[in-house]
This record gives sequence, C-alpha cells and structure tokens, in this order.
Amino acid sequence: MVDGEEILSNVISSQDEAHAKFGGIVPEVASRHHLELTVPVVESALEEAGVSLDQIDSVAVTAGPGLIGALLVGLSTAKAIAAPRRLPLVPVDHLQGHVAANFLAPEPLEPPFLCLLASGGHTLLAGVRDHAGHELLGQTLDDAAGEAFDKVARLLGLGFPGGPALQRLAEEGDPEAFELPVAMARDPGLDFSFSGLKTALVYLCRDLGPEGVAERRADLAASFQAAAVGQLTAKLARALKRGEWEAVALGGGVAANGPLREAVAALCEERGLRLKLVPLRLCTDNAAMIASAARFAPSLAYPEYLAYDAFSRSTERRSAERASVHI
Ligand code: KG4
Ligand code: ZN
Repeated sequence: MVDGEEILSNVISSQDEAHAKFGGIVPEVASRHHLELTVPVVESALEEAGVSLDQIDSVAVTAGPGLIGALLVGLSTAKAIAAPRRLPLVPVDHLQGHVAANFLAPEPLEPPFLCLLASGGHTLLAGVRDHAGHELLGQTLDDAAGEAFDKVARLLGLGFPGGPALQRLAEEGDPEAFELPVAMARDPGLDFSFSGLKTALVYLCRDLGPEGVAERRADLAASFQAAAVGQLTAKLARALKRGEWEAVALGGGVAANGPLREAVAALCEERGLRLKLVPLRLCTDNAAMIASAARFAPSLAYPEYLAYDAFSRSTERRSAERASVHI
C-alpha cells in the first residue's frame, strides 16, 4: 500500500516452501496458494498501514506478464474490492512494476535512467524516460537470468528459489575455478542469452560425476555466478557506452544478487554515473512496486474494468485492453 511515494505497508507472502519440494514453481500449486493467501495478505496490508478499505482511493493490480492462474486470482480479488466501492482499478504491467520500485521513498530516482531488469521470467535493458513506461533496448533471447540461477542451483542440489542459495554457496568458492562461455560477448547488440551458460554447467556436472560435483559445488556456483554477472554487467556497460544515460537502476529478483550489485556499483563509479539500488525487499516481487507504478498508469473506471483480462505474455496485452473497452 502506498501514499504518494511513501510505502504504508508491503506484505509479502512467500510460497517458496510450497514450491521447494518440486524444485520450481508449479503453476497449479501457485494458483491454489494465491487463492488461499490473497485475502489474508490484503487484511494484513490494511492492518499494517492502519488504513480501512473505505480510505482507499484506487486499487492497483498486476495484469501480466506472469503465471495466468495466479494473475487471475489477483485480478478477481482486485475487482471484488474495487467494484462494490465504485473505485477505479489500475492494471499494472509486472515489468513496469519492477522499474517503478525505483520511484519509491526514500530517495526516489527521477527519470531518465537506464534500468537493468533481471528476474525469474525476464531479463532486459529498459530505457526509462518518464514515470509511465519504458523502452525495451535489449532482452534475453532464451532463458531469463533468474531462471538460469534456479536451474543451476537445482543441478547443484540447492533449494528453490536458487538465486539466494547459489549466492551463499558461491561465497565459499573460486569464481575462476571453471572457464565458462561468456555468451553474446561478440554480439554488438544489447540482447542477452543464458541457455548456453546453463548447458555448459550441465555438461560440466556430467563430466565431473556426482562425487566431483559434490566436491566442487562451491567452485561451480562461484564460476556460474561470475559468468552470469559478467554478462549482465557487460551488456549494461555496452548500453551506457554512448553516454546517453547519467543514472542507472536495477530491478527484478536477480537485482538482489550481491556480486551483481557490487559489479554495477563499480561500473557506475568508474563512469561517474548515479546508481540507485533499491532494498532487497523491493527487488523480488512485491506489492509496493505495483502500487508505485499505478500512480503513473491509466486507471479504468467502474464498470469498465469488469471485463478486463490478465495476460501471461506481453504480446497478449492488447487483447486484454480491447476487452476492457468493449464492455
Ligand atoms: O522478480 P522475481 O521476484 O520474480 C519474477 O518476476 O520472476 O525474481 C525471482 C528470481 C528467481 O529466479 C530467484 O532465484 C532470483 O530472482 N533471485 C536471485 C537472488 N534473489 C532472487 N538471483 C540471484 N541472486 C540472488 N540473491
Ligand atoms: Zn517479478
């Protein structure tokens, strides 16, 4: 819940434990948990903020991209809160939410800035020129960075989500122990690729065998992390080359990664650029970033939004928007 740029409450209900036994997110399990957890989360968000539903001005909700079942639960709940009160509803793009985490207090970052956004489902470079949106400058051609962290973590017998566990294990390892391919190094564009790195790890583990992997787990984790952070930072550096941007921000779950934050901080210092690093709680998915983005997004009036649909991919968004107009 936000009031202007101030966060009044930001309740996060993690389903990580439920998914850990499957080694990843199972969409059906996620939707069912959303169904059980959404109302209690709304209640505690109101309580923590010391606000009643009658004091709410508008309801923001993630419209996509993401897992459609979970999105639909969120969207239906938001409609159910907004409609009886005739409140406006603001559908928010998940990725713009990650960008908008940078607009929150303390020290909100004013556009323009370049944002490296890396999560479990997306990896992209966003040119942010105003509060309302972003321009896609480059993106992953295959796996997302977070997805690669999760898959490699699983390969090394770590829990889910893999990112934080892999980072902890890597602290004990040598980042130069294994030479891994630096994907897209010669590619002049701003796109990313993580599937080659992931596959390199799969072959490396196969060659080492179960005992070898067990012995070298920390070195494998550290080498993988260094290669992944290296690619993210190299592409960011390339995007900064033309000197168009004076400020840099990070977003998405992978932005919580310590070595990535350090590498980007070093890069920005070297080039004399301002850097905004949001706290870890605002990197991984959270409600405050969605409310933050909603402040700058168009709202839908009652009953216009009743037919509004969620979208699992960015390309489906237009049909969701059409549905809301045709009611
Ligand atoms: O943004 P997010 O919470 O959800 C999506 O929109 O996907 O990002 C989750 C991703 C997961 O893949 C998780 O492993 C990764 O962010 N992640 C990290 C770290 N913390 C979370 N990856 C690397 N290092 C971390 N410390
Ligand atoms: Zn996310």
